[in-house]
Amino acid sequence: MTTTSKQDRVLIFDTTLRDGEQSPGATMSHNEKLEIAAMLDEMGVDIIEAGFPIASEGDFEAVSDIAKASKNSVICGLARANFKDIDRCWEAVKHAARPRIHTFIGTSPLHRDITALTMDAMADQIHETVSHARNLTDNVQWSPMDAIRTEHDYLCRVVEIAIKAGATTINIPDTVGYTIPRESADIIHMLLERVPGADEVVFATHCHNDLGMATANSLAAVEAGARQIECTINGLGERAGNTALEEVVMALKVRHDVMPYDTGIDTTKIMGISRRVSQVSGFPVQFNKAIVGKNAFAHESGIHQDGMLKNKETFEIMRPQDVGLSGTSLPLGKHSGRAALRAKLDELGYPMADNQLKDVFVRFKDLADRKKEVFDDDLIALLRDAGAAEQNERIKVKFLRVICGTEAPQSADLILEVDGVEKQVTCQGDGPVDATFKAIKSIFPTTARLQLYQVHAVTEGTDAQATVSVRLEEDGKIVTGQSSDTDTVVASAKAYVNAMNRLLVRREKSAPDSDVKTVKYTDAV
Ligand code: KIV
Ligand code: ZN
Repeated sequence: MTTTSKQDRVLIFDTTLRDGEQSPGATMSHNEKLEIAAMLDEMGVDIIEAGFPIASEGDFEAVSDIAKASKNSVICGLARANFKDIDRCWEAVKHAARPRIHTFIGTSPLHRDITALTMDAMADQIHETVSHARNLTDNVQWSPMDAIRTEHDYLCRVVEIAIKAGATTINIPDTVGYTIPRESADIIHMLLERVPGADEVVFATHCHNDLGMATANSLAAVEAGARQIECTINGLGERAGNTALEEVVMALKVRHDVMPYDTGIDTTKIMGISRRVSQVSGFPVQFNKAIVGKNAFAHESGIHQDGMLKNKETFEIMRPQDVGLSGTSLPLGKHSGRAALRAKLDELGYPMADNQLKDVFVRFKDLADRKKEVFDDDLIALLRDAGAAEQNERIKVKFLRVICGTEAPQSADLILEVDGVEKQVTCQGDGPVDATFKAIKSIFPTTARLQLYQVHAVTEGTDAQATVSVRLEEDGKIVTGQSSDTDTVVASAKAYVNAMNRLLVRREKSAPDSDVKTVKYTDAV
């Protein structure tokens, strides 16, 4: 699919697996990446940026496996402005029915300083690298990183060079989320007016959210003529994240009257993929997040409830069904059977084979015995834990009993299974969680630093499940573990152990995050 500034079709370019996965702690496993890519393909994403093949062996394998499995979407890989990166990228994406190479270089004065390139030298490099990519494939995207802070004359000059060298998509990144809607639009206008050949290529907008304006900036760019929006599910991404796919897609749908541009996205798949990305990345979705937040379709005040009962349009600008919610909540409980569970899982976007359902049903019954009502979010938390259990886990929590209360010291009696061998310890601490974490560290010593410990109730009530997120950092490697349980301390222990298991995998597989980042942005030649 091609589209130019004169047409009304806007391409959706999803970079959850590349820019999103770059957020500290959001690392996904190989299988999780494949699963998310399949969901993106299925929901109608035009282009999937599957990773940065030169960054690590793992990234390379993920991009090439996603390319092999892709059905409809274009599969894109990222490459810096050098032949080695571009060749490696091509090796990974070439398996796709529709491959794309995305190459970039930082063009703003700040980035030119880092690469120590003069304007002319950088212009030559852009010509050579884009031509090189174009010799490999006819689908080449080029990005001037930090375009928004690049001098306008120089931006026009390098965009023209990239187009002449064969780029078919020109992406204009607001790398640091610095722009405002009017400026975002003005820059696209300027490029379309000043750059020869601009009407032959697709202009893309890629906005970060540092000032909370990514979605508005992306839509302003579209109104000015951009025809590709780069975004991520749940707005996942470094710092404050990226433009959220669900926000731009629903904004274009709901306000088609003033923004008459179409996307090819099946919006009913939004909620399912949002929940899955939240699970695999370990980044919970904030309750009041537009479209996908738990409260996005919840009404509590009397006036709102009254209005909703009389006419839903009073307080809802889109139907919950449009984004894949049933719109009504039918809680499950201990009397519910397999059929009800299956129907609910289908509705939530988790269709299950019979053998998978069997396992989930056992867990569901166990939870239902401990809880009056099992809500959608309880089920999703339970599925995430079932998924975690399937991973190759070296450390497992076998037993935990804590003594806590007003009389210190609190203590934890813990049995962990480490590589198949059970080990027991009792530790004291400043509170039950501290005692539990000390017990884990005493059985499995580590230099990892606890960067974040966060608890939130998945559903309401004193019997609610707690979801605990734990972020650990070791030598620049950052991992996040999550777990849910009606017992907060058990959830904490399992989340910590989940993070430890991920760290063990990371230790074996990859270079420190800090090194990867150095590779990613500074060594541009
Ligand atoms: O934000 C950015 O500039 C990027 C580029 C690599 C396109 O992600
Ligand atoms: Zn970015």
